[in-house]
Amino acid sequence: MSPTPQLRPARSEDAAAVAAIWHEGWGDGHLGQVPEALVAARSRESFEQRALARLADTTVALVGDEVAGFVMVTGDEVEQVYVDRGHRGGAVAPTLLAEAERQVAAAGHQRAWLAVAPGNDRARRFYERQGWVDAGGLTYDAEVAGGRFPVPCRRYEKGVA
Ligand SMILES: CC(C)(COP(=O)(O)OP(=O)(O)OC[C@H]1O[C@@H](n2cnc3c(N)ncnc32)[C@H](O)[C@@H]1OP(=O)(O)O)[C@@H](O)C(=O)NCCC(=O)NCCS
Repeated sequence: MSPTPQLRPARSEDAAAVAAIWHEGWGDGHLGQVPEALVAARSRESFEQRALARLADTTVALVGDEVAGFVMVTGDEVEQVYVDRGHRGGAVAPTLLAEAERQVAAAGHQRAWLAVAPGNDRARRFYERQGWVDAGGLTYDAEVAGGRFPVPCRRYEKGVA
């Protein structure tokens, strides 16, 4: 049986591991499905900068001493759920998503939402297995250096109260 992941708020020393998982996982979930201009903006350096800038919103899952995945929550949005390739298919992703739902509820919201690329079949299947429902299409304003980039996505929601 795989070990139970331990959760804690991210620290500055986690930023490099978060950026590496984010960069690789973003490619797995998005390449071929989002505009090339967004792919060009998502360099390794961009993930390193964003991982550091977003530490306060980030919870990491540790397996042993290793960062195995992370989630970022802002308000009622579960903004990023990323699991290292070597830890997918186990307890890390469900543990992170449950923690994100708990944080959204603790902030006083009734429902949580997230945006997912339409062709990210693995993520969509995972969210649906965890009780999330496809609430329709939305244009997501992805954050890029110096502005926002509109990306067609699906909006998923789950009641968390
Ligand atoms: C999305 C993510 C967090 C899910 O965690 P995970 O540990 O991989 O999830 P699981 O393997 O438990 O569940 C994925 C489901 O998709 C299925 N699946 C696996 N590969 C698949 C594929 N290529 N296409 C479609 N479904 C796939 C799995 O069998 C499983 O379904 P099941 O429970 O019915 O068997 C993880 O894959 C990840 O970090 N991906 C890259 C980053 C990303 O896309 N994040 C989401 C951004 S919105």
